[in-house]
Amino acid sequence: MRYSKKLIDTKLGKEQAILVGVDIPDQKQMLTLEDSLAELELLTSTAGVKVAGVISQKMDRPNSKTFIGSGKVEEVKILAEEVLADLIIFDDELSPRHQRELEEAFGDKIKVIDRTALILDIFAQHASTREGILQVELAQYEYRLPRLTKAWTHLARQTGGGGGRSGAVGGVGLRGPGERQLEVDRREIRTRIAKLKAELEKVRDHRMRYRSRRKKTQIPVVALVGYTNAGKSTLLNQLSGADVYVADQLFATLDPITRRVELQNGQSVLITDTVGFIQKLPTQLVAAFRATLEEIAEADLLLHVVDVTHQNAPAQAKSVLQTLEEIEAGDIPVVTALNKIDCLKDPEGAIARMADFPNTYAISALTKSGLPELGTAIATELFETYLPIKVRLPYQEGQLISVFHEQGQVEQMTHGRGGVIMHGMLPKRLYTRFQPFTDYPEIEEED
Ligand code: GTP
Repeated sequence: MRYSKKLIDTKLGKEQAILVGVDIPDQKQMLTLEDSLAELELLTSTAGVKVAGVISQKMDRPNSKTFIGSGKVEEVKILAEEVLADLIIFDDELSPRHQRELEEAFGDKIKVIDRTALILDIFAQHASTREGILQVELAQYEYRLPRLTKAWTHLARQTGGGGGRSGAVGGVGLRGPGERQLEVDRREIRTRIAKLKAELEKVRDHRMRYRSRRKKTQIPVVALVGYTNAGKSTLLNQLSGADVYVADQLFATLDPITRRVELQNGQSVLITDTVGFIQKLPTQLVAAFRATLEEIAEADLLLHVVDVTHQNAPAQAKSVLQTLEEIEAGDIPVVTALNKIDCLKDPEGAIARMADFPNTYAISALTKSGLPELGTAIATELFETYLPIKVRLPYQEGQLISVFHEQGQVEQMTHGRGGVIMHGMLPKRLYTRFQPFTDYPEIEEED
């Protein structure tokens, strides 16, 4: 879809930013304030923005108007003038009201965004497939709609359709074209949201058809998951000899990329790279990346890549497992690859810290150390581990009935009301596909 003018073009780049974080003791955060701000700093430079200062505040709860206290607002304002910053980035998600009050407080020359808007901007820079581009655009419009203020409208109009950086910096003097114009803009955005959704549905339909074709080939799918920058793309490159984009940047991979890899036992698997996870990933964004997340939820095995050299490796890995639960992929078997051990003086110590995680293998995707063992672990999980199962498969699930016969071991088969009851052993990787059919009334066994 092409638009003549972009209402919400806020592309970042070349700005100077001040980062703002708050420490609220009651809010259980996964990372300390310091670590969270360090991550925000990395996100900021990934977006091409220079960090000119960092300010934090300890508080019991966020200020209802300006998120941080009024004294802090002044402090940030003074620092911004001193270091010539034109962008303030908040580490936490700002409500539309916070956003409006802060814009008011900082004036026209300074743009205010939060972690979500920053991540959306990075996603926008990295999206490459049709679906990826549509998803990011939709997420951006949905995020901005409630936050559209006179200032936004005015600034966006200044940028025109050039696709360049935001006009926030140059937006001096004039305010927006008024409430009536604002309402027109809102209506226009709603229409665009509806069009984007319709177009996304079409693209998704196409992908689903492709995926069901792929399923018929019966090649197991391994989804690479992990915190951003853990080394997923590097590992996929090494395993498949493919040339997937690798960068020391966050979220270099946004769209699902799938490669066929042959394991040592001669069996093939499809390995698919996915978007990196990050703490405080807003659910709105999780929903926006349905494409990659669906790939994960449908996988036969998850290969969880952890940057074991990172000081917060256990917390990062935990947040990945949490997100997997949220997208209903918590039941899929996991192999954990503790990556980057080439950088460690004490690999044993680092590995010991990860003892709570399932099936761990120490590897270096860069030097290929540990990759044969990892390959064997994947093959064992996929092809040699069987689980006992009892299911009732409705007659219309003919495909699953034949999959059970072809790939499992059927021990008993009876015809019940409206379906076939099958007892036997199934490869672990197929278990989740059959699980929805394990719950059926015992009485049917006697029919
Ligand atoms: P996202 O796309 O952000 O999710 O990142 P990713 O998990 O795909 O990470 P990627 O493969 O892009 O690697 C991130 C950085 O880590 C790059 O600079 C890689 O060269 C580096 N890296 C990956 N694996 C290793 C490793 O085994 N050892 C070392 N030293 N560096 C590695």
